[in-house]
Amino acid sequence: MKETTLGVSEIFETMEYGPAPESDKPVLDWLAGHNHAFGIYVGGRWVAGEQGKHFDVINPATTQRLARVVQASAADVDAAVRAAREALPAWAALTGHTRARHLYALARAVQKHARLLAVLESMDNGKSIRETRDLDIPLVARHFYHHAGWAQLRDAEFPGHGPVGVVGQIIPWNFPLLMVAWKVAPALAAGNTIVLKPAEFTPLTALAFAEIAQQAGLPPGVLNVITGDGTTGKALVDHPDVDKIAFTGSTEVGRIIRQATAGSGKRLSLELGGKSPFVVFEDADLDSVVEGVVDAIWFNQGQVCCAGSRLLVQEGVAQRLIAKLRARMEKLRVGPPLDKAVDMGAIVAPVQLERIRGLVNKGVEEGAKMWQPSWACPTEGYFYPPTLFTDVSPAATIAQVEIFGPVLVSMSFRTPAEAVALANNTPYGLAASVWTENINLALDVAPQIKAGVVWINCTNLFDAASGFGGYRESGFGREGGREGMWEYLKPDWERELGSGAGDTRSLAVPVEPTAQTIPSSPVPLPPIDRTAKLFIGGKQVRPDQGYSRRIVGPGGRLVGEVGEGNRKDIRNAVEAAHAAAAWARASGHQRGQILYYVAENLSARVDEFASRIRAMTGRPPSDARREVDATIARLFTYAAWADKYDGQVHDVPVRGITLAMNEPMGVIGLACPEDSPLLAFVSLVAPAIATGNTVVAIPSEPHPLSATDFYSVLETSDVPAGVVNIITGAKDPLALVLAEHLDVDAVWHCNGRTGGGEGGAAVERASAGNMKRTWVLTHPRDWFDVRQGEGREFLREATQVKNIWIPYGE
Ligand code: NAI
Repeated sequence: MKETTLGVSEIFETMEYGPAPESDKPVLDWLAGHNHAFGIYVGGRWVAGEQGKHFDVINPATTQRLARVVQASAADVDAAVRAAREALPAWAALTGHTRARHLYALARAVQKHARLLAVLESMDNGKSIRETRDLDIPLVARHFYHHAGWAQLRDAEFPGHGPVGVVGQIIPWNFPLLMVAWKVAPALAAGNTIVLKPAEFTPLTALAFAEIAQQAGLPPGVLNVITGDGTTGKALVDHPDVDKIAFTGSTEVGRIIRQATAGSGKRLSLELGGKSPFVVFEDADLDSVVEGVVDAIWFNQGQVCCAGSRLLVQEGVAQRLIAKLRARMEKLRVGPPLDKAVDMGAIVAPVQLERIRGLVNKGVEEGAKMWQPSWACPTEGYFYPPTLFTDVSPAATIAQVEIFGPVLVSMSFRTPAEAVALANNTPYGLAASVWTENINLALDVAPQIKAGVVWINCTNLFDAASGFGGYRESGFGREGGREGMWEYLKPDWERELGSGAGDTRSLAVPVEPTAQTIPSSPVPLPPIDRTAKLFIGGKQVRPDQGYSRRIVGPGGRLVGEVGEGNRKDIRNAVEAAHAAAAWARASGHQRGQILYYVAENLSARVDEFASRIRAMTGRPPSDARREVDATIARLFTYAAWADKYDGQVHDVPVRGITLAMNEPMGVIGLACPEDSPLLAFVSLVAPAIATGNTVVAIPSEPHPLSATDFYSVLETSDVPAGVVNIITGAKDPLALVLAEHLDVDAVWHCNGRTGGGEGGAAVERASAGNMKRTWVLTHPRDWFDVRQGEGREFLREATQVKNIWIPYGE
């Protein structure tokens, strides 16, 4: 009795943990059942790779080999894409309910095999069983359940839309199975078929998932899983019969994929790196903050794209917080991932461990102060201790580069404005968390941080109902939620056109007469002695080079002259567009009022604009008039939308709310199509400015005078200076300058019926510079058709979703 009492008091004294190992036996049995070797899963069958090349999969905590997998070749990729293509018509033709049943079956199957998957994930990746068991795998199941719902509701909630087609999905090693779920669930719900490539370090749970899907009766070819390294990924990206690529991984590879898919017509979503700020104001609850930091940077050994890796603390509490953090770090436990009592497991691979070590050394060399707890990590396996840097300069390498390891850098700030400036002082924009007990301050700061997710007094919360994805060089597109579903859908009318880029056979574009069909009687012409200047910052300015270009109508008749814009003019226009950023803060109501006013002022000049269109294009008077009327209607459409393009409140399973806010992209560059010179121009400008963006527009290259006439409409309609900037000249070279410009946030490039070539591809390639979002309309559109010329598609392109998580309760 005495002994027992002593024992308990001793335990209280030392607070030692005993080992609590999870058994690896079921996984070892499962691996042995496969002879520790896996084929690739193509067309519903397990097949050997064409070239017979393999590589080993290693347990990073023990350095033991777990299995051998196939290094898939280009021929294997081709077979997988063909299988997905063959399976597509039948899968896409299923009712939403039938697809929902399949997704539901996958969710159930994941739950049935939850522990096997959790242990396998832990052994393959090195992350702790606590995380795989309590977070990764439950979220995987949740993702399939949630998307079973979207499959059921697709036709009702996304009318006029269907699947994109065959999608290639390439995922990283940090959340191997969770990334499978994030990619596969929405793609299947929308009716696509898939070729999935897991990361080379961690392919096993994806293969186990393929096996589970096979058992659950997913039709052959709907999901194909091929293993391999970056060369396999590249073959998938380059395959001509893939309609979309969805990628999660490093910004470096994201950039390569952006360039590789440029001009191919493939849809693309990229979820890339981050250097996310963790902002602590001095009224925050510091004990909660400490636990928040643990979750932010030591969760998954810091190998998290949205890790809160930059701790920004208000000066008054910085010292106190750092002291508390060090005390907490002393108590963190790094060890065998299958021990249920460890906080941190192993780093995924030696190369990653070396990268972390290299960057930490660099931090020390550059003068920051490094601190690690006094205990030592296990020596077998690839472990790295939690690490804290103080005295870090904002320009230091470790403050700028994604370390992707358990390394936190801290800096201090004095005012909220300084906090926002520091938070945004990175090319990334994936996530942020903000800690303060003052809700007003939190909700003031959250919208100012450039990030796709902002967590208030919490961090690293994820759910299938809430979109996840980045701003700026953290990529574009969202995963999860309604916003994530759009990534896997496209309008029916677009699919009806056929898949060949430039295939316009079935397009009902109003025909502009060619030179042979010009009416013999000349149309009345406006005076030719006006040379339109450029429109920058609300002023009409001469082009930098002082050249102008002749604008001719049918039969070569001169109808006017416009300025020949160049690189410098674009730069000036971008600067003016940035200076008008206050437009984003105007209320939707105000923006709507101004758009109505533009419409009103245009309607007073219908005849003048119609005759200009006739003069430039030679189209019949009724047709020109119809274009002006349609333009007025379009302005009304976006005046209506300006205060109605609401965000959403997502229903996530926390006590609190998640606000999905539609935020403007920033500065959008617009390269207008050649035809419908007034209507197409307004169809692009109006949704962009209705949602709070400012724009630099390049009007129709052959017919720019409707846009230059429009200056005076803008000037008389209270549109603030710099909101709309217009640069006339050679469309594709100017669009390229916009795409290369690092201060432009998005570029839209539209081919017309008459023009159209490589310009859009060049824009996509060049956009890789700052990973700006691009929207390239290769197919000419019928701008008169409301399905093609207006609506939510345009509003979505003009905005990016920020999810703000606000838990409540004491
Ligand atoms: P990675 O970006 O090279 O790999 C991600 C996936 O892309 C893997 O499946 C890989 O096989 C594939 N891939 C590689 N090159 C490709 C190509 N040219 N075309 C198509 N697919 C290709 O990431 P890696 O090398 O594993 O890690 C390097 C660094 O990237 C890490 O240290 C970390 O900083 C960062 N990273 C960031 C992630 C994030 O979610 N933000 C995830 C993984 C890594």
